[in-house]
Amino acid sequence: MTAVRSEITPAAMPQQATALRFPPGFTWGAATAAYQIEGAAAEDGRTPSIWDTFSHTPGKVRNGDNGDIAADHYHRFRDDVALMADLGLNAYRFSVSWPRVQPTGRGPAVERGLDFYRALADELLEKGITPVATLYHWDLPQDLEDAGGWPNRDTAERFADYAAIVAEALGDRIKIWTTFNEPWCSAFLGYGSGVHAPGRTEPDAALKAAHHLNLAHGRAIGVLRSSLPATAQTSITLNLHQVRALTDSPGDLDAARRIDAVGNRVFTGPLLKGAYPADLMEDTAHLVNWDSLVRPGDLAEISRPIDLLGINYYTPTLVSAPDGSVAAGEASRNDAHGKSDHSPWPGSEQVVFHLPPGETTAMGWAIDDSGLYDLLRDVSRENPNLPLMVTENGAAFDDYVDPEGNVNDPERIAYVHAHLSAVHRAIADGSDIRGYFLWSLMDNFEWAYGYGRRFGAVYVDYATQRRIPKASARWYADVIRRHGLPP
Ligand code: NOJ
Repeated sequence: MTAVRSEITPAAMPQQATALRFPPGFTWGAATAAYQIEGAAAEDGRTPSIWDTFSHTPGKVRNGDNGDIAADHYHRFRDDVALMADLGLNAYRFSVSWPRVQPTGRGPAVERGLDFYRALADELLEKGITPVATLYHWDLPQDLEDAGGWPNRDTAERFADYAAIVAEALGDRIKIWTTFNEPWCSAFLGYGSGVHAPGRTEPDAALKAAHHLNLAHGRAIGVLRSSLPATAQTSITLNLHQVRALTDSPGDLDAARRIDAVGNRVFTGPLLKGAYPADLMEDTAHLVNWDSLVRPGDLAEISRPIDLLGINYYTPTLVSAPDGSVAAGEASRNDAHGKSDHSPWPGSEQVVFHLPPGETTAMGWAIDDSGLYDLLRDVSRENPNLPLMVTENGAAFDDYVDPEGNVNDPERIAYVHAHLSAVHRAIADGSDIRGYFLWSLMDNFEWAYGYGRRFGAVYVDYATQRRIPKASARWYADVIRRHGLPP
C-alpha cells in the first residue's frame, strides 16, 4: 500500500463557503475499465481479448504498450479501494472483463474470474462505496472476433449469455448496471477507422457492428431485468458528440447533421425512440442494406426501457462542409482517438473536422465545458423522463512527480471545476442528473496512446506501481466532502 490517508484527506481545510451545492443524493464517483487497469492478462483462466491481440501487434499502440500488467489492479484492488475510501467516493464505476469470466465468449463461466469481481464488490460495499458495473468496455474475447466479431449477429446472442452469467453471479451485490461503454468507439473506431481493436477498416462492418451492439444491449437489458431484483437499475453509456457546425451555412449544417446521425442518433434513435433515423439510413444506403440488417423484432428489443442513461463527455465536435473555411482553428484529424487514413464516420467522409478554439488537453482535445452543458440540456429536453448520469469526464495532462514527490495538476482541477459547474448549471435548469464519475480514478492504459496519456486523479508510477494522489485527488475529495464546489 503506497498511499496514506493523510495524502488525500483535505488537511485541516478552513471552513470555506461552498459556492455551488449539489442536490441531496447526487453521486460522486470515479471510473475505470478492466483492460486499462487490471493487468493479470493471462491469470486465472483469462484468455486474450481483441485488445490483447491489437496491443501486441506492432504499430497499433504507441510505444508498443499493452495491458499485460497495466496498473496491476487485479492484485492491488484492495489497496485501490482503500484509496477510493480515502477520497470519499460514493460510487466506483468499473468494467467486467468478458474474457476473464467466459474466456472464449461461449460456454460455462470461469469461477475464479467471477470471484475477482465478487471480492471487488464486497470490498467496495464494505467501505460504503456503491459498485457500478459495466458489462463491456471494449474487450471482446478474441475467439468471438475470429468468428466475425460485432459485425456478426451471433455476437449479440453471445453477449446476452455473458450478461446472464454476470448478473447471476453479482446481482446480489451490484445494483447499478451498464451494458455497454461507448458503443460508438467499438463500432466506428474498431471497425471503421481501425485505430481501436480489432483494427478493421470496413465501413459496412462498422454499421453492422453498431446494430449488433444495439441488439446486444437490448437483449442484455431483457436478461438483466429478468434476473436482477426489481430495485436494480439498468443503463447504457454513450459518448454523445456535442456536434457544432462551423457556420450556419446549409453545407455546414448538413455536415453537422450527418455527424449527429452517425455519431449519436445511430444509438439514441433505436435505443430511445425505437427506430433508426431515416437520414442515417439514407446517408449510408450505399454501404449497408438496412432492411436485411435490422430484422423484425430487433427494434422492440433494442428499445427496452432503461433506468438511467450514462453520458461520457470530453470535448465538443466542430465540423463543416468540405469547402468550409478553417476560421475557428486549424483543421484537425477526423477522429479524436488516434490517426487513421480511414474515416470512422460512414456516409460522412466529406465532412471536415476543426479544432475548436481555446486551450487543449494533452490529447489535443479542446477544453469547453459549454459542450457538456449543451449536451445535458439537449438530451434532457429530448428525454424528459430519463435520468442522466455523467459516467465519464476528465482530462489528460502531462503530469509528473516533482522533486518533493508531489504531482501538481492545476489544469485538471480547473477542467473538472468548470465541467462540474456545467453539470450544476444543467441541474439548476431542470436536467435530472444523478451523478458524476471522474475519468479516471488513476492513470491507466489509454488505448492507442498507451501509458503516455495520464487521466488519473491518482498518479501511477508504472515501474513500482506506487500510487500518488495528485493535487486534483485532494481537491476532488474536498468537493465530495462539501457536496459542492468551492468558490
Ligand atoms: C472514454 C473511454 O470510455 C475510456 O476508456 C477512455 O480512457 C477515455 N474516454 C479517455 O479517452
